[in-house]
Amino acid sequence: MKKTLMLATLLGTSLLLTCATYADDAALLEEGRKVAMELPPKLLAKLQENIASSGLEGAIPVCKDLAPKMAGAIAQQTGWKIKRVSLKTRNSARAVPDAWEKAALEEFDQRAAAAESPAKLEKGERIGNEYRYIKALPVQPLCLNCHGPAENLGTAVQEVLKNHYPDDQAVGYSEGQIRGAISLRKPIE
Ligand code: HEC
Repeated sequence: MKKTLMLATLLGTSLLLTCATYADDAALLEEGRKVAMELPPKLLAKLQENIASSGLEGAIPVCKDLAPKMAGAIAQQTGWKIKRVSLKTRNSARAVPDAWEKAALEEFDQRAAAAESPAKLEKGERIGNEYRYIKALPVQPLCLNCHGPAENLGTAVQEVLKNHYPDDQAVGYSEGQIRGAISLRKPIE
């Protein structure tokens, strides 16, 4: 009798714990999604501002310097580490995906090829003592100026890109493809 009671209590506790985990995970997914959505519009606004004032080639430093600076500011405010990754990197010093990110990027490409909307592709997962969230960044018309096929890139842009990124792989994209992803992680108890 005592044994059964103990077993029932144990079972009950683990069930409760499991439910709590699911509730936490849903909240973490929601939080990660919210934080991830802060960076792209801010970056896009700065990019457009710089393209208007100094041309496309003059806007390249925005991606280079401002993106990590903005990501750092968001990390300080929210506790989520945030970076951009890609299967075809422009800046291989920053944007090479780790195994989890690579698997997610490959999955996103497959799902986009199967006609899922690239803007909706995301994944959240608890891994060890971290929660990780990743969201696809689809290629929009503006992106083609710096990530498109040769005919979309101006000669000035090509020149600046070659100087800053001699091993650039991030060209040749077309609209709607997945350029990379925004990847977040946060420690959890
Ligand atoms: C003015 C040129 C320019 C435009 C327009 C532009 N990018 Fe970039 N992008 C860059 C540069 C330069 C880098 C390298 C940044 C660095 O050094 O970290 C980069 C890097 C990235 C990265 C990080 C991964 C990597 O390969 O290094 C992603 C993801 C990305 N861009 C997505 C986009 C998307 C999506 C758009 C359109 C919404 C876009 N970019 C528009 C110039 C541009």
